[in-house]
Amino acid sequence: MGYFTKPSWAFLFLLFTFLAILSLQISTKSIFPIRLVSVSGSSTPGISGGEDPASCVGFFGVMPARKYVMSIKDFGGVGDGKTSNTETFRKAVRYMQRFGEKGGSLLNVPRGRWLTGSFNLTSNFTLFLEEGAVILGSRDPEEWPIIDPLPSYGRGRERLGGRHISLIHGNGLTNVVITGQNGTIDGQGNMWWDLWWNKTLKYTRGHLLELMNSDYILVANLTFLNSPFWTIHPVYCSNVVIKNMTILAPLNAPNTDGIDPDSCTKVCIEDCYIESGDDLVAVKSGWDQYGIAMARPSSNIIVRRISGTTPTCSGVGIGSEMSGGIFNVTIEDLHVWNSAAGVRIKTDRGRGGYLANITINKITMERVKIPIRFSRGSNDHPDEEWDPKAIPKVNGIFISNIVSFNSTRAPILEGVQDSSFERICLENVTLLGLAQSATWHCEFVSGFTREVFPLPCPQLQDNSSLLQCL
Ligand SMILES: *[C@@H]1O[C@H](CO)[C@@H](O)[C@H](O)[C@H]1NC(C)=O
Ligand SMILES: *[C@@H]1O[C@H](CO)[C@@H](O)[C@H](O)[C@H]1NC(C)=O
Ligand SMILES: *[C@@H]1O[C@H](CO)[C@@H](O)[C@H](O)[C@H]1NC(C)=O
Ligand SMILES: *[C@@H]1O[C@H](CO)[C@@H](O)[C@H](O)[C@H]1NC(C)=O
Ligand SMILES: *[C@@H]1O[C@H](CO)[C@@H](O)[C@H](O)[C@H]1NC(C)=O
Ligand SMILES: *[C@@H]1O[C@H](CO)[C@@H](O)[C@H](O)[C@H]1NC(C)=O
Ligand SMILES: *[C@@H]1O[C@H](CO)[C@@H](O)[C@H](O)[C@H]1NC(C)=O
Ligand SMILES: *[C@@H]1O[C@H](CO)[C@@H](O)[C@H](O)[C@H]1NC(C)=O
Ligand SMILES: *[C@@H]1O[C@H](CO)[C@@H](O)[C@H](O)[C@H]1NC(C)=O
Ligand SMILES: *[C@@H]1O[C@H](CO)[C@@H](O)[C@H](O)[C@H]1NC(C)=O
Ligand SMILES: *[C@@H]1O[C@H](CO)[C@@H](O)[C@H](O)[C@H]1NC(C)=O
Repeated sequence: MGYFTKPSWAFLFLLFTFLAILSLQISTKSIFPIRLVSVSGSSTPGISGGEDPASCVGFFGVMPARKYVMSIKDFGGVGDGKTSNTETFRKAVRYMQRFGEKGGSLLNVPRGRWLTGSFNLTSNFTLFLEEGAVILGSRDPEEWPIIDPLPSYGRGRERLGGRHISLIHGNGLTNVVITGQNGTIDGQGNMWWDLWWNKTLKYTRGHLLELMNSDYILVANLTFLNSPFWTIHPVYCSNVVIKNMTILAPLNAPNTDGIDPDSCTKVCIEDCYIESGDDLVAVKSGWDQYGIAMARPSSNIIVRRISGTTPTCSGVGIGSEMSGGIFNVTIEDLHVWNSAAGVRIKTDRGRGGYLANITINKITMERVKIPIRFSRGSNDHPDEEWDPKAIPKVNGIFISNIVSFNSTRAPILEGVQDSSFERICLENVTLLGLAQSATWHCEFVSGFTREVFPLPCPQLQDNSSLLQCL
């Protein structure tokens, strides 16, 4: 007996240890693989399946820490909604600029209503709006001074000559963060929309936020309201992240685009809710001879998980300003309702430039009049010198996994004469609720389709070679 008891104790001990290790393995395994998959899945893992959704992290990385933190109150700011803080914000930024090379700085804006004219940001800097903080744009046009036109536009976008600076502005900066606890920046744009409507605008309206020639920009977790003109305008920038923003303007407010990356590269825009009087997101690159001469494309852009409505414009637009070229753009997981178009590509003769490798994937639309639209008629040229022989080239637009409920028109795809749009490819596009008589309208386009309903135009019916799209 004694002979057997010893080994059985040893055996039980071994078994227990083995089981303990095994159970530890199982419990760690059940946590780690999911994490590992989501971290290594750098492309675009689906939003289903329990994985973390794709994120813009690769474009800017982790939020930088700032060594010096000050409050707008330290500079004498008054948050009563009436006192002008224009000089206070300018003074604060001038002061904090000195920390740029000493660990960076953060300007905190506490709860309150902080009226201000335009001010500039600086590098290695964070503007942080606490919960309940509202920055209010001045209603005095003089508080939005005139600056030079952009070289890729040759003039103000709306009026000849210079243009009003944006409310919040930066030029030639690096490492700028604008964030907070859902604080608000309100452009109080109605005065500017009136000037536009009653045709008394002297200079092109300013943006709510414009960053020029800058890199490593992060705009997140805030609400932007009532921009006079396009709301967020990064131009000649790279490594720009705009995420988790709410952008609102009245649905009839003119040209209040949500986010317009313009001649920018490495831009990631995700998880935004946008309601406005113009395109929710529009990718641009200057116009006509000015944009062609500057030749500064927009490229490597991701736009995803955007939802919203714009009754007279589109969910996502490409152009009409595209003269510097636009390539490698991915637009996915959009939800658009009660809008004029879901996806719209706008160009025309005179624009020159090119569009290439634009991927549009997973879009859901409800009550969008024309779900997919390519249109000409970009006739708002900067001046008489535009060259009608400058023909845009379009090659490679991939549209897939689209479902649209209650659209009123089938797609309208109008290319440009003498420069047919090539490799226009559609797969798994289902447009429901159209009238029986609704037919696609196509001109100067060629490409391939598969699983598209209703039956596309003959130019796109060749489904034998969809592989050429890839
Ligand atoms: C920003 O910070 C980085 C890292 O500290 C530094 O190298 C750079 O000079 C700073 N840039 C400016 C403009 O202050
Ligand atoms: C802000 O920067 C612009 C150049 O981008 C400059 O014209 C303007 O004078 C600056 N404003 C202030 C208040 O420094
Ligand atoms: C988005 O921003 C809001 C504040 O505006 C914040 O409460 C929320 O946690 C943020 N979401 C993510 C995923 O960062
Ligand atoms: C942030 O504030 C806006 C406007 O007040 C609101 O519509 C939005 O739902 C808020 N977002 C979050 C995440 O609380
Ligand atoms: C145009 O709108 C501005 C801003 O609201 C106003 O001051 C001006 O009186 C208006 N002009 C006309 C001609 O209606
Ligand atoms: C946005 O808010 C979330 C939740 O509070 C926070 O984790 C994240 O760091 C914030 N992002 C930025 C860029 O401020
Ligand atoms: C396209 O852009 C993405 C980022 O949006 C980038 O990861 C990818 O390398 C680019 N592709 C090419 C061919 O440059
Ligand atoms: C578009 O993609 C194709 C295939 O990946 C590539 O050969 C071509 O250079 C790209 N065009 C542009 C303008 O990036
Ligand atoms: C077609 O697209 C719809 C909408 O995005 C999606 O739900 C469906 O799974 C797709 N079908 C296939 C076969 O990929
Ligand atoms: C589409 O229209 C039908 C008939 O008017 C209506 O019953 C349905 O709710 C609408 N669906 C959407 C998503 O608007
Ligand atoms: C091509 O279209 C025809 C008719 O619409 C269909 O019968 C066929 O299955 C399609 N082929 C592929 C590969 O989708």
